[in-house]
Amino acid sequence: MGSIGRYPALLALWVQLAAAVSTLVLFKGLAALALYPGLMAAAWVQGVAAAVLGQACGLSVWWLPINLAFVPALLALQGRHLPPLLPLAGFAVALLLNWNSFGERVPLYLTGRRTRQRLLEWLATQPREFTFIDLGCGLGGALHRLARAYPAARFEGVETAPLAFCLAWLRCLPARNCRIRYRNLWTVDLGAYDVVYCFLSPVPMPALGAKARAQMRPGAWLISNSFDIPGMPPEQTLEVRDWRHARLLLWRPGGDGSPCGGNPP
Ligand SMILES: C[S@@+](CC[C@H](N)C(=O)[O-])C[C@H]1O[C@@H](n2cnc3c(N)ncnc32)[C@H](O)[C@@H]1O
Repeated sequence: MGSIGRYPALLALWVQLAAAVSTLVLFKGLAALALYPGLMAAAWVQGVAAAVLGQACGLSVWWLPINLAFVPALLALQGRHLPPLLPLAGFAVALLLNWNSFGERVPLYLTGRRTRQRLLEWLATQPREFTFIDLGCGLGGALHRLARAYPAARFEGVETAPLAFCLAWLRCLPARNCRIRYRNLWTVDLGAYDVVYCFLSPVPMPALGAKARAQMRPGAWLISNSFDIPGMPPEQTLEVRDWRHARLLLWRPGGDGSPCGGNPP
């Protein structure tokens, strides 16, 4: 996923600008031919271009309606008397969801359906009562579905983006085997889990690799969605074959649990 995974909002901004410039050129040409179809038509052409370009560049599917409707919505709202605090509220929501974009350089994006399915299949190879943690569980969607599929296992998520935490907490509230904690992932003792899952960004991976090696039990698995750990080749790689080119990288940082299976270098 590279820089797309790291800075999807910047990519979306670039996509909007590229679509706006192309639409401007197209509509200037049409106007020169006396074929100008109006400002709202131009806004929708820009929206379609931005939506298509965004998907082609690998943005998550939920960016599609945002890219499509952003400029038409701005145009439609122009001149209406909206509460002056609305843009501020929008900014606050984005900030409370993406709290960790700044310090940790980990924004919010979600495990895709096919990746979740791959993880679900892999978890079937584990003993029935495993313990699982999602480090930075976002909105808790992936965790919640896994918890439903494996009722005998115990699932935990930690999250420090305030709004993401609240939504994940509410979502998992009815689940008996799943709990969400407002906790920094760096303070979690990874030694308590059989499976540690993360979908972060390239930035924290070296430190997470070191933490996993220091704390994880022999035989316990660390699974990273798409981001590798420099200098620590995975023991297994599960290709997902989705449009994001996601893959699951698996390590046993505490060794494989066999009498002669030591710590990997
Ligand atoms: C890319 S999202 C992944 C969400 C979820 N795990 C999933 O796969 O759908 C990463 C999440 O990690 C959270 N995060 C980043 N650094 C964190 C930290 N130090 N402690 C707790 N959560 C963190 C972010 O707020 C974000 O919600």
